[in-house]
Amino acid sequence: MGDGTGLPTDRRTVLRGLGASVALGGLGAVGALGPLSACSTGSTPDGAPGAGGTAGGAPSGSGPVFAPPAELRSVDGRLEVDLVAVPATVTTGVGERYALTYNGSVPGPTLRIRPGDDLVVTLENRLDQPTNLHTHGLHVSPDGDSDNIFVMVAPGERHTYRYAIPADHPGGTFWYHPHHHGDVARQLFGGMAGAIVVEDADDAPGGALAGTVERVLVLADPRAGDSAAALDATMMQKMLGREGDLPTVNGLVGPVLTARTGTVERWRLVNASPSRFYRLTLDGHPFHVVAADHGRFAEAVRTDEIRLVPGERLEVLVAVDTPGDVALRAHPVDRGGMGGMGSGGRGGGMGNGAGGVASTAVESVLLTLRSEGEVAAVAVPTVIGSPTPLPTAADATRELVLSMAMGPGGGGMGGGGSERFMIDGRTFDGARTDITVRLGTVEDWTIRNTSPMDHPFHLHVWPFRVLGDGTDAGVSPGWKDTVNVPANGAVTVRVAFADIPGRAVYHCHILDHEDLGMMATIEVRPG
Ligand code: C2O
Ligand code: CU
Ligand code: CU
Repeated sequence: MGDGTGLPTDRRTVLRGLGASVALGGLGAVGALGPLSACSTGSTPDGAPGAGGTAGGAPSGSGPVFAPPAELRSVDGRLEVDLVAVPATVTTGVGERYALTYNGSVPGPTLRIRPGDDLVVTLENRLDQPTNLHTHGLHVSPDGDSDNIFVMVAPGERHTYRYAIPADHPGGTFWYHPHHHGDVARQLFGGMAGAIVVEDADDAPGGALAGTVERVLVLADPRAGDSAAALDATMMQKMLGREGDLPTVNGLVGPVLTARTGTVERWRLVNASPSRFYRLTLDGHPFHVVAADHGRFAEAVRTDEIRLVPGERLEVLVAVDTPGDVALRAHPVDRGGMGGMGSGGRGGGMGNGAGGVASTAVESVLLTLRSEGEVAAVAVPTVIGSPTPLPTAADATRELVLSMAMGPGGGGMGGGGSERFMIDGRTFDGARTDITVRLGTVEDWTIRNTSPMDHPFHLHVWPFRVLGDGTDAGVSPGWKDTVNVPANGAVTVRVAFADIPGRAVYHCHILDHEDLGMMATIEVRPG
């Protein structure tokens, strides 16, 4: 099945989506009162993760059929969308689960736009808590009704966002998710996320990537459960960053994607998990990486393993040259833990959390790529885009420090309520402006992590380049907005504040850490 390039998208798609969400929303509200505790829902009776394959095994080949998210495409320079934030029961392909959704489905619809477009999104909140909307990675104004995360949409209310996409906006894979401080991790864990694709000349007929078969793959790890309790996390799980027990692609556990030999698959991967890091391989096949967060690389980078920390995106090409089944595997990642900051706390045995270790040690098969046809020679495009060059020098330098502190007494892991996740020694205060930058300048930021756990650092609005390779992310020759800062390590990035003034935030994209305070504000001023 195609990814939807060429799918006609019109107003009816929106209306159908809304119809579904209304009905499901009603069910969700009732289902939310279910009696199951988080722990009992955490043990999936049908062994759901096994359906996605077990460690080292062959692809199961019997998973649900891969499905792209619904798509809404701009027409004549404009895309108008209604997003309803609403609880719903959704299918995982191996069962159903309680979810928080946009328009009743997980992920939400892919918004497909072009540079110069006007994007108008009306968000309606049918949750029982506040929410709002962030367009992660888009280089648009963070003020007014644009990508303003200080807007709060109360239950029952709606807000219309208007985004003017600059005519010189890079093509790429971006995404949207809630950003109401304190509630972000839980809502994303529930399923509230969708892709935003900015198409450019490379995507168009005759472009470098024309002829490849494009797909959106939103990676997330929800938890199985039939009530809102499935979304809960203990303080220990929040401190470590919550991980669920169902690694999914577009909401499905272990889907089977069927391709034809002789073709080139092009995957736009989005890590929409609140905390999980993905280290991915595809049996016997290299990835040809053509883009990271912001715009394409000049040349494809060939690699056997890719890695996405929360918030990151990669666009990769895969040559489908041999018939058969191959597995897209997610391998265990060590992203640190509470280290010497406490010990012995157990997270309840539902995924991560045991013994103060952040990551799950389980390997899973995220997807099976099934190819049919004869063995075929496949030419993978190698010369891709012409990215904005890296500025040769910075006008200013800064140092930021990411740190964690436990409450007095230390032994009260998870109980004291005084755990603090900080940037420069302070927890988030939206009323305070932490950094002021002059528009039109370039800054080098060294981000230091003094804690025993990795923190993926994310800056809104203004893209950066990673200098040197202070990261183990492996592939980062392009412009980015999210980069891992390893435990007890540091990364230096060069940020271009070339245009677009306004007030925004930077934070850890382990969203529990952001909710616990590891976020700060930046104001970029003209003159
Ligand atoms: Cu993906 Cu401030 O967020
Ligand atoms: Cu963002
Ligand atoms: Cu963090």
